[in-house]
Amino acid sequence: MADSLFLREFLRAPLRTGAQQPSSRALAAAMAAEIDPAADGPVVELGPGTGVVTRALLDRGIPEDRLILIELNPSFADHVRRMFPQATVLNGSAFDMRRLITTEIGGGAEPQIAGVVSGLPLRGRPDALRTRLLEDALDLARPAAGRFVQFTYWYDSPVPFDRTRVDGRRTRFVPFNLWPASVWTYRRHPDLLTG
Ligand SMILES: C[S@@+](CC[C@H](N)C(=O)[O-])C[C@H]1O[C@@H](n2cnc3c(N)ncnc32)[C@H](O)[C@@H]1O
Repeated sequence: MADSLFLREFLRAPLRTGAQQPSSRALAAAMAAEIDPAADGPVVELGPGTGVVTRALLDRGIPEDRLILIELNPSFADHVRRMFPQATVLNGSAFDMRRLITTEIGGGAEPQIAGVVSGLPLRGRPDALRTRLLEDALDLARPAAGRFVQFTYWYDSPVPFDRTRVDGRRTRFVPFNLWPASVWTYRRHPDLLTG
C-alpha cells in the first residue's frame, strides 16, 4: 500500500517526489544511525514520504513524540499523520523549515533541535537554496550534537557548503538500495562552536 502510494505520487510529480519507490530499510537505517538519540530536542525529518526513514528513527530509539515531519505532498503528509499519530506533521515546504518550526513548535521563538534528516530531492535546486537549508538546519540544531543528514545517489556532496563554516562528510555508503546511495552528514565547524 505504501509502495503503491509512492509510485502513484511519483507518476503525478516525478521531480518533486524524486524516486520511484521509497528508500530501502538499509538506507533508512544508515540515515537514522547518524542521529544521536540521547541529544535533547526534537528531530526534524524533511520529506518523509511514506515513512521508511521515520520508522528507522523510531527503531534508533527516538520517541515518536519528538519527531517533526515536514512534507510538501498532502497525500504523504496524511499518510505519515495516520502512521505516526504522536509525531508533529507539518504539511509545508522544507525550505520554509525555520519559520514553520518557529511558529508551529516554538510558539514564536526558535526551538533548539537535535538534528535534521532529509530525504528531499535536492539535485537541480539552486545552490543558494540548498546552502540556506543547511545553514538554517545547523543554526537550529544544538551546537555540539546537531547534524544535518542527507542522502544522495551521486558521489559528491548534495549540498554546496562553506568548509570554514561546516564540517561535511560522506559518512556511509549503502549499496543495497534501488540506486546505491551515499549518506552525507554535516555539522557546524568545530572552530565556530562556542561553550
Ligand atoms: C525521494 S522521496 C524520499 C521519501 C522518504 N524519505 C524515503 O526515503 O523513502 C522525497 C520526499 O520529499 C518530499 N518533498 C519534495 N520537496 C519537498 C519540500 N520542498 N518540502 C517538503 N517535502 C518535500 C516528497 O514529497 C517526497 O516525500
